[in-house]
Amino acid sequence: MPRKTTISLIKCDVGSLAGHYTVPKPLLNIAEKNLKTAKDQNLINSYYVFNAGDDLQLLMVHEKGESNPQIHELAWKTFHEAANKALQLKLYGAGQDLLKNAFSGNIRGLGPGVAEMEIEERGSDPIVIFAADKTSAGAFNFPLFRIFADPMSTAGLVIDPNMTEGFKFEVTDTIENKKAVIKTPEEMYELIALIGTVQRYMVSRVWRARDNMICAASSISKLSQIAGKYVGKDDPVMIVRAQHGLPAVGEILVPFMHSYLVEGWMRGSHWGPVMPVGLKDSKCTAFDGPPRLVALGFQIVNGGIACDDNGRPMIADLFDDPAFDMARHEALELATLLRRMGEFEPARLGPEEMEYTTIQQVLEKLRTRFTSA
Ligand code: 13P
Ligand code: 13P
Ligand code: MG
Ligand code: MG
Repeated sequence: MPRKTTISLIKCDVGSLAGHYTVPKPLLNIAEKNLKTAKDQNLINSYYVFNAGDDLQLLMVHEKGESNPQIHELAWKTFHEAANKALQLKLYGAGQDLLKNAFSGNIRGLGPGVAEMEIEERGSDPIVIFAADKTSAGAFNFPLFRIFADPMSTAGLVIDPNMTEGFKFEVTDTIENKKAVIKTPEEMYELIALIGTVQRYMVSRVWRARDNMICAASSISKLSQIAGKYVGKDDPVMIVRAQHGLPAVGEILVPFMHSYLVEGWMRGSHWGPVMPVGLKDSKCTAFDGPPRLVALGFQIVNGGIACDDNGRPMIADLFDDPAFDMARHEALELATLLRRMGEFEPARLGPEEMEYTTIQQVLEKLRTRFTSA
């Protein structure tokens, strides 16, 4: 029997330094301490703590399966401890994403974002994880389409016989709380019809059609739906499996040679360009952005992450590369163009999404001023 290994990427905005800029060291240290203890106690086999802008990211590799109460509790307690530290330091938005306090074994639906994937380890299993800041859960629809369904982007769809049967996309309707599986290439147009509506339909999982092998999982929780109002952006995460009959790492990354527009940015109320960055630039500045995206690569081995001679997980900071300079430049050009439009649509989100922001208070104040036209 091949070994079953679980990759859990769980994130939370627990509070940040200088507004919504970044997760400072004392909070990262708490996560590092707790995950080290969990590793020493053999609850998890490997971990890596990092930040995507102001979101604290816990990457954990273990053999406990998805939605495991012990793993979720570890994340939940770690986020609470870090949020308390943020509160002591009066950091901004301490405990921002800890929306509900009813933890009973699963962190989903309580605020933090979760992407999890249980895999049967192959001869070699390269993994790419993505973590975004200042954007919403639908931000991965477009690149997931490019990676798994666009033959002009992923050569393997045309060249590799293991991929020519296509992929199956699980699409979640976040308004009706329903999901459907759509198969490409046959239903490519139907898929685009749905997931082009990035504010409602989200790709939550992808499988290879030939054998139903899981190859992508992304977080789809919408904070505004949990809280009923704007409390910060979803800042989603995603796990993608690569190579040997799946898109190559290079095919997973090539869609990010160009920027594209996502909802989020300042006050979660604007369209903004995605800027793929290395970890050193994973922090949001201009107009609280532009929305940043990091991609980290690693190899799975014996239920954990392949480590160096000192026992440290080997992590490839994939966007820390001149190949993405053009996307970063495009993002700045698009950012400039959109910011010139200020608070006029389409720079600002449409009215349905603005319903979840603080603009409601302004509109309420003006409500009685309206008379028949
Ligand atoms: P695999 O088929 O082994 O994934 O290799 C594809 C490749 O060479 C990508 O550049
Ligand atoms: P975060 O969701 O990253 O905390 O951003 C909130 C915000 O309103 C930024 O302007
Ligand atoms: Mg924040
Ligand atoms: Mg954030």
